[in-house]
Amino acid sequence: MPEQTASELVVVANRLPVQRNGGQWETSPGGLVSALLPILQRERGVWVGWPGSGDAPEGAFEHDGFTNVPVELSASEIDDYYEGFSNSSLWPLYHDACQPPRFHRRWWHSYVAVNKRFAEAACSVASEGARILVQDYHLQLVPGMIRELRPDVRIGFFLHIPFPPTELFSQLPWRRQIVEGLLGADVVGFQTRRGAQNFMRLVTRFTDHRAQGSRVKVGTRAVQARAFPISIDTARFERLCADPAIIARSRDIRREAGEGRSIFLGVDRLDYTKGIDIRLRSLQELLSSGKRTIHDTVLIQVSVPSREFVTEYVELRSRVEELVGQINGQFGEVGSAPVHYLRRNLPIEELVAHYMAADVMLVTPLRDGMNLVAKEYVACRPDNTGVLVLSEFTGAANELDRAVLVNPHDIDGMAAAFAEAASMPRDEQSRRMRSMRSRVRRRTVYDWADEFVGALDEPRQKTLTGVLA
Ligand code: F6P
Repeated sequence: MPEQTASELVVVANRLPVQRNGGQWETSPGGLVSALLPILQRERGVWVGWPGSGDAPEGAFEHDGFTNVPVELSASEIDDYYEGFSNSSLWPLYHDACQPPRFHRRWWHSYVAVNKRFAEAACSVASEGARILVQDYHLQLVPGMIRELRPDVRIGFFLHIPFPPTELFSQLPWRRQIVEGLLGADVVGFQTRRGAQNFMRLVTRFTDHRAQGSRVKVGTRAVQARAFPISIDTARFERLCADPAIIARSRDIRREAGEGRSIFLGVDRLDYTKGIDIRLRSLQELLSSGKRTIHDTVLIQVSVPSREFVTEYVELRSRVEELVGQINGQFGEVGSAPVHYLRRNLPIEELVAHYMAADVMLVTPLRDGMNLVAKEYVACRPDNTGVLVLSEFTGAANELDRAVLVNPHDIDGMAAAFAEAASMPRDEQSRRMRSMRSRVRRRTVYDWADEFVGALDEPRQKTLTGVLA
C-alpha cells in the first residue's frame, strides 16, 4: 500500500473502478465512478474491489488520485459468489423473479466468505471514525461484518438494483442474515421509496428490531433506510451533444439507417431483465399489423455482452438473435433490414451520436432499479425532440413520467405505444421532452453523492430522533 495507510473515506464495491486498456489502467466510464471520484480525490480515498482480471498488481495501487485495493477472487469464487449467489440467486429474485432464482448452499457459503474478505480489506484501510460506503447486492453482509470489526466507523450501504417485496424476498433461505447484514449500516439507501418500504416491512417481519418511519433502532444505534434516486452526469452528456464531430456522426447514422425512416433505438446490457425479447416481438407485431413498415421504421438494438457464463444469459442471447433473424427474414428487403443488431459496447461518443440520431428511444425492462439509459437519452436531446418509451417498472419512471409509459409484458400495448411514439406531433414531443430534461438537469449524480454521503455525516444523535427509545 502506498504512503497513506489509513483513509477517512473508503468505497467498497464488487468491482474496482479501473480497467486495463492495453498495458495501462484507466478509470472505468460510468456514473457511479464519476460521482464518487471528486470526493475520493479530495479526501485521498480508497476503493476496495475485485479487479476482474488475472493481471492486477498484488497490492494496493494509486490511480487517478485515489488508492485501489484489489480483492482477489478464486475461480470457484467467481462461479459460486459472483455468477452463482449474486447473479443467479439475488439478481433474478430482486428483479421480480422474472427468471426463477436458483439457491444453492455452496453458493451462499462462498458469498459469506467473500463478503468477509471485502469487510476485512475495508477495515484494514479505514482510519478511526472513517466513512465506509458499501455498494450493491454483491456485498449485503459487509455492513454487518464491518460493524462487528470496527464499531467506530460510519457505514453507508447503497443498493443499485430494486429491492423486492416481502413475498419474493421471503423465498430466500438466508433472508434474516441479509436483513441483519444491511442493518450493520448507519444509512441504507435504495433507488426508490418502494424499495425502502419493502426493506422496512422485512425488518419488522424477520428481526426483533423496532422500526418507525424510515428508522430502525438496532441496540443503541439508529439505522436510516430511505431512497436516494441515482442519476447521471448531465452536463457531461450535454457537452458531448455540442461536439461537432458527434453531431456529424449522428447525421451519418441517420443517413445510413435510411433518411425518412423513424429510428427506434434500444441500448441495454444483454440481460433478461431488460425485456429485449418482448420488445422485439412488439416490433414484429407492429410491422405485421401494417401500421408501420420497413420504409418508415428501423430499430437499432445495441446489446452489450454481459455475464456470458450464466446459463440464463446464454439462453437470452439465443432468443434475441433468433428473433432478430426472424424479423429481418420476414420483413427485410435487399439493402434494407428492419433491425440493426449491434452486440458490443459503444464508446461514449458513439453512444451519444446514436441517442442524437434516434427519434424514439425504447427502454422496456421487466424491472430495473433506475435505468440510466433513459436519463442519458433525455440529456442528449438539446432541441427537445424525440420520444422516450419507458417501462413502468423502472425507477426512472418515477421521475420521467412524461415518457410514453408502457407495461413491458404487454406485446399489443407496446406495439401501440411504439406507433404512438413514432407519430407524435412535434409540439407534444417538445412539451414532454422539455419537462423531462429539466428533471435530469435538476438532479444529477453529484446530487446523489452529496445526499448519500451527507446522510452519513448527520450527527448520530440526530438520526436517533424519532426512533422509539
Ligand atoms: O446494475 C447492477 C450492476 O452490477 C452494475 O453495477 C454494473 O455496472 C452492471 O450491473 C454490470 O454487472 P457486472 O459487474 O456483473 O458485469
